[in-house]
Amino acid sequence: MMTDFVRVADLSQIAQGAALKVMVNNRPVAVVNTKEGVFAVSDICSHADVSLAEGEVVDCTIECWLHGSQFDLRTGMPLSPPAIARVDTYEVRLVDEGASTQVEICTEPQPWTAEERPSA
Ligand code: FES
Repeated sequence: MMTDFVRVADLSQIAQGAALKVMVNNRPVAVVNTKEGVFAVSDICSHADVSLAEGEVVDCTIECWLHGSQFDLRTGMPLSPPAIARVDTYEVRLVDEGASTQVEICTEPQPWTAEERPSA
């Protein structure tokens, strides 16, 4: 299958510890800049229709502002209730263009793999 990436932002638009909501293939995606890198997850909380990009970023997680579920940005897995379902994750590519770094997101979410499951 062909994997396409779309350019969604200049990295300088997303402060470290912040998230930006973008549209990829007509789907809302939260692009999150963390100390550990840039991650992209579905912007819609798996518990209800709430924008995750409006939540708080802590280390490699984002917290839904409505009921407080935290999601692991690497795996999309919820780390705390009430959400129990995973959110989609997207591959991120950073393209260095000298003066700026461009953030590109894969147009299709990453398929689920058993290895992505937290061992807990
Ligand atoms: S809507 Fe996100 S945890 Fe309830």
